Amino acid sequence: MKNKLNRIKTPKDSETIVTEVVCPNDTNPMGILQGGKLVQWMDIASAVCAQNHAEHICVTASIDNVLFKTPAKIGDIVTIKAKMTRTFNSSMEIFVQAWAKKVVSQKAYLINEAYFTFVAIDDNGNPANEIIAIKPKTIDEKKQFDEAAKRKTARLKK
Ligand SMILES: CC(C)(COP(=O)(O)OP(=O)(O)OC[C@H]1O[C@@H](n2cnc3c(N)ncnc32)[C@H](O)[C@@H]1OP(=O)(O)O)[C@@H](O)C(=O)NCCC(=O)NCCS
Repeated sequence: MKNKLNRIKTPKDSETIVTEVVCPNDTNPMGILQGGKLVQWMDIASAVCAQNHAEHICVTASIDNVLFKTPAKIGDIVTIKAKMTRTFNSSMEIFVQAWAKKVVSQKAYLINEAYFTFVAIDDNGNPANEIIAIKPKTIDEKKQFDEAAKRKTARLKK
């Protein structure tokens, strides 16, 4: 699975976890976390994941299947996990999930998940010729890896 760079990493190597607290400036008048703010936090977590994997500056090419499942409210602790599913030539797909936790009950629930695609950029500002390959290890990582190719085809068709 190595490519001509002769380097390989696992999804765990670049997994990125970010924690935020929902503050009044992040919310709408009902005290609910704004969707755009959450997507910004998810974008930053996935950019860190992409750049740590690729060792290049990376840009967001697309975000698909953004699904706001449940609202987060003022004071909730939001945890965002970004994990690489697969690398292609210059692009990478990253699965991002966000949970909100109530401080007093310590109950956490999934509030959002989405697939982000990042493209690694070379020194001339073009998509990089090739990036470090990835080798999935766990059953879940292998499933995500296998399905990523189908998702890429579907997304480019759109
Ligand atoms: C993303 C971007 C670099 C692609 O450049 P491009 O010249 O269209 O590149 P190419 O057509 O050669 O494709 C390069 C890679 O991007 C992927 N790509 C291009 N458009 C895509 C899209 N809409 N969704 C997902 N992947 C995409 C291609 O599949 C290809 O991947 P591969 O090399 O792994 O096969 C370019 O469109 C861009 O700079 N967009 C703006 C990015 C931005 O401003 N983001 C927000 C701030 S970070």
